[in-house]
Amino acid sequence: MNSRIFLIGFMGSGKSTHGKKLARKIAYNYIDMDHLIEETAEMTIPAIFKEHGEEVFRKWEHDILLELCKRDRLVVSTGGGAPCHGEMMHIMNEQGTTVYIQLPPEALRDRLLHSPTERPLIKGKSETELLEFISILLAEREHYYTQAMHSINGINLQFEDLIALLEQL
Ligand code: S3P
Repeated sequence: MNSRIFLIGFMGSGKSTHGKKLARKIAYNYIDMDHLIEETAEMTIPAIFKEHGEEVFRKWEHDILLELCKRDRLVVSTGGGAPCHGEMMHIMNEQGTTVYIQLPPEALRDRLLHSPTERPLIKGKSETELLEFISILLAEREHYYTQAMHSINGINLQFEDLIALLEQL
């Protein structure tokens, strides 16, 4: 199994939930990129977006990724936009195994509507606006997500499915 496993996918696709369980099962360290950025910056993601803007956040995401690529035995849940900026998808494909957790817009909307995490890109959107936003952004992002080495259906996904996928490699 590769020494770094990057889980990628849209906000709400379950990267953190599955990443944590997967890491525990295969005895790898688990890293949530968003949390690591927040710890390093000593600010929440909404505060980073508000005070510094998205461009700065993307730069910090990139820098954190490069740091993570120096470490081994990691399962990383990436931020939903990380693979879609600069060279990040390319770097992850070079430095580890990438798995895209794929879900349709309606399922993402349902999960995001019930998620307690504050996400600046979708804050304040109504249910209808949210579905429209997800559909448009997902269509743009799929170009990047589908560059992952593997794609897996996120509906009813169990971490055992991820293990089975990774063991085939
Ligand atoms: C973002 C997704 C978030 C977080 C930030 C931006 C995005 O991570 O990185 O709010 O651009 O899709 P999650 O995918 O963990 O929600």
